[in-house]
Amino acid sequence: MADARGSIDQYVAGFRDRVRAMRHPGQEIVDEPGLLGLVGRSSEALDGRVLVLDDRAHETLAARLPELFARVFYVFDDAEACRGLMSQDPRFRPTRCTAMVCNGLGAIPELSLPAGLTLRPVSASPTDTAEVPLADAASAALRSDAEMAPTTDLDSFLEYLRSIPNTRYVAAVDDGGDVRATAAAASWGSTTGVFFVNTDPAWRGRGIGTAMTAAALRYAAAAGAERACLDASSLGLSIYERLGFESVGAITQFVDQG
Ligand SMILES: CC(C)(COP(=O)(O)OP(=O)(O)OC[C@H]1O[C@@H](n2cnc3c(N)ncnc32)[C@H](O)[C@@H]1OP(=O)(O)O)[C@@H](O)C(=O)NCCC(=O)NCCS
Repeated sequence: MADARGSIDQYVAGFRDRVRAMRHPGQEIVDEPGLLGLVGRSSEALDGRVLVLDDRAHETLAARLPELFARVFYVFDDAEACRGLMSQDPRFRPTRCTAMVCNGLGAIPELSLPAGLTLRPVSASPTDTAEVPLADAASAALRSDAEMAPTTDLDSFLEYLRSIPNTRYVAAVDDGGDVRATAAAASWGSTTGVFFVNTDPAWRGRGIGTAMTAAALRYAAAAGAERACLDASSLGLSIYERLGFESVGAITQFVDQG
């Protein structure tokens, strides 16, 4: 088991790989003591992300917050003054979550879904009809828990999901063809980022979220990922612990609601 410090370093390294992979024209990478992120020139961009590790970031954040356009700021509890600053800004909705890392991707089991559900790959291409359309998976995810998405608008959400490179999306589809659960793993260098984990409220508590996360992780491991990072909601925490993820710290996620 990696020690906590090592895991934080791995989480930060994964975040750095993520912002490098996600960078689009017009976006800037900010990499300063206590602060790492991808910021845009407009609040419209959904892919900007900033990680605030500790209060070494306070001076920069206090001076630049109005122009650091990013949809989500992840602020570790160690950055108490930064958290206070963000909390006072009415643009942001705070949610508590846990930063996690898993180093044992080779040991992720293949878990079956309950009767009535089938695991299907999802296609991000609008013209591919062989797989579950990403639009079906995205609308199911928004129905399941709109607060976990960076936007509640389906078209913007789809545009954002399609902009994430090297991502495998999976869906659990019922006998009528409806998507009941989703998961995704994006590969950035040797790290995979897990997100888009949702189960229809009527199907929860039956091992589906765990099985879907495991399926996405197995795809990422087969594609060469060595470790996984994610930000767990309170509902997701136990499923990730069961799969071998370790907590590296508590975070407040500030989502720009603009
Ligand atoms: C988080 C979420 C995906 C979990 O989905 P789920 O399908 O209910 O997940 P699981 O069934 O695998 O695990 C949930 C609970 O059911 C239990 N469970 C698992 N298999 C079970 C089974 N066969 N029978 C009964 N209970 C079972 C698990 O032990 C777990 O309980 P615990 O939290 O007390 O440990 C779901 O709550 C959700 O969509 N939440 C909103 C979005 C969200 O927060 N996503 C996570 C973002 S990081």
